[in-house]
Amino acid sequence: MQRPGTITQGHLDRFGAALRRRREEEGISLRRLAALASYSPGWLSKVENGLARPTLQLAEACDRVLGADGELAALARVTLSGVTWSFPPAQLPPGDGGNFVGRTAELRVLDGMLERATDTGTPLTVVVDGAPGVGKTALALRWAQTVRERFPDGVLHADLGGYGPDAAPTDPARVLTGFLIAFGVPAASLPAEPGQLAAVFRSLVAGRRVLVVLDDAGDARQVRALLPTAPGSAAVVTSRRRLAALGGVARLPVGPLTPVDAIALLQTVVGGRRVGAEPASARFLAYACGHLPLALRIAAERLAAGPHRMLRTLAADLADPTSRLDMLADGEDRGCAVRAAFDASYQRLDHEASLLFRLLGGDSRTEVTVLDAARLVRRPAAHVRRTLETLANEHLIVETGPERYRFEGLVRLYAMEHAARARRTLDSERLARA
Ligand SMILES: Nc1ncnc2c1ncn2[C@@H]1O[C@H](COP(=O)(O)OP(=O)(O)OP(=O)(O)O)[C@@H](O)[C@H]1O
Ligand SMILES: [Mg+2]
Repeated sequence: MQRPGTITQGHLDRFGAALRRRREEEGISLRRLAALASYSPGWLSKVENGLARPTLQLAEACDRVLGADGELAALARVTLSGVTWSFPPAQLPPGDGGNFVGRTAELRVLDGMLERATDTGTPLTVVVDGAPGVGKTALALRWAQTVRERFPDGVLHADLGGYGPDAAPTDPARVLTGFLIAFGVPAASLPAEPGQLAAVFRSLVAGRRVLVVLDDAGDARQVRALLPTAPGSAAVVTSRRRLAALGGVARLPVGPLTPVDAIALLQTVVGGRRVGAEPASARFLAYACGHLPLALRIAAERLAAGPHRMLRTLAADLADPTSRLDMLADGEDRGCAVRAAFDASYQRLDHEASLLFRLLGGDSRTEVTVLDAARLVRRPAAHVRRTLETLANEHLIVETGPERYRFEGLVRLYAMEHAARARRTLDSERLARA
């Protein structure tokens, strides 16, 4: 453990490494930098090698010469204040604990990705993407819990609120501030510029084995500055989007649970005895919930809330597809409902995509081709192909084969609701005009 306020070798090394990185990026020799910044080459070399303490003036002069935008001065402030680093951050929330079921294959894939990254000496970034409520967060947290011991320098976690109830997603600068404070950087020495915050974060995690869990990313921009860079580090990012703009990352698309795991989820919440006593109703409930963890969880909690509630009664309530989404809402928490989860994705669609979504919702075919969709919206196929790709990237439709798409599970019912609502609006407008 370090004493607060003590500048250690680690601090000096980190500043020196950042200075060297910046200098090499600019292609300037140490001698030339020394001349331009008015310091002796010997002194600068000592600072680069962690053998001498930088001053704020030296950092500012190097910033100016290297066009480093204040990064070195920001890092010098942090270095000189003596970041305590007395214990590594351990920010993982608890997750589902003993209630977590299934996902054996996905957990194995994530383990394999980490092994390969470790073998090749590269940091791992993996994007776990999938439909609303499919269990991305639960899976990411579960995996992080199982591998956290492999990251001795800390585990960081942030909810990026990409699809959360708040109108604006979390600002990456706010997340960086939280991460730096978790590493012991005194709030007073934090730079104000987002770019500098990111630079200080990079310097702090350079050479350290950390795991970063970034939950519910709305876009790639939110994520970039928060990724660790050192070999042996890893980041797991969850998103309802594919985050295609995030290049060079591993990907794990997540689908609904298997029917067996869907029933296992019901069992963990409702109890094995009750579920075992009504096996046919349990199977139907799993199916009616589209094997979607969020829906299963809500259904299961409804049953678990009363010892006399029968599975077959809830199954009968869910039998009518037109009212099923009404049944899959938590009575107390309006935000905790399947429809509310889908709304957050639907409301982020642009006009073209939401129009196509509604029109497809009103179409009775189980599967449509690109040409079918083009006929529905009366737009050129190339145009519609792109819109269908957008819907697929948002996980609101599933690509089942070349040029073929279909709605999966409860999303179909949700799309049908929108189609019916659009028809009603159109009818009332026609009536008003008549
Ligand atoms: N494998 C699982 N075992 C048990 N419960 C699960 C599992 N996966 C998800 N759940 C539960 O289902 C609900 C939805 O899961 P989760 O929040 O992980 O979905 P998500 O895909 O992250 O949703 P969103 O798109 O809104 O971020 C949660 O209550 C979660 O605890
Ligand atoms: Mg989530």
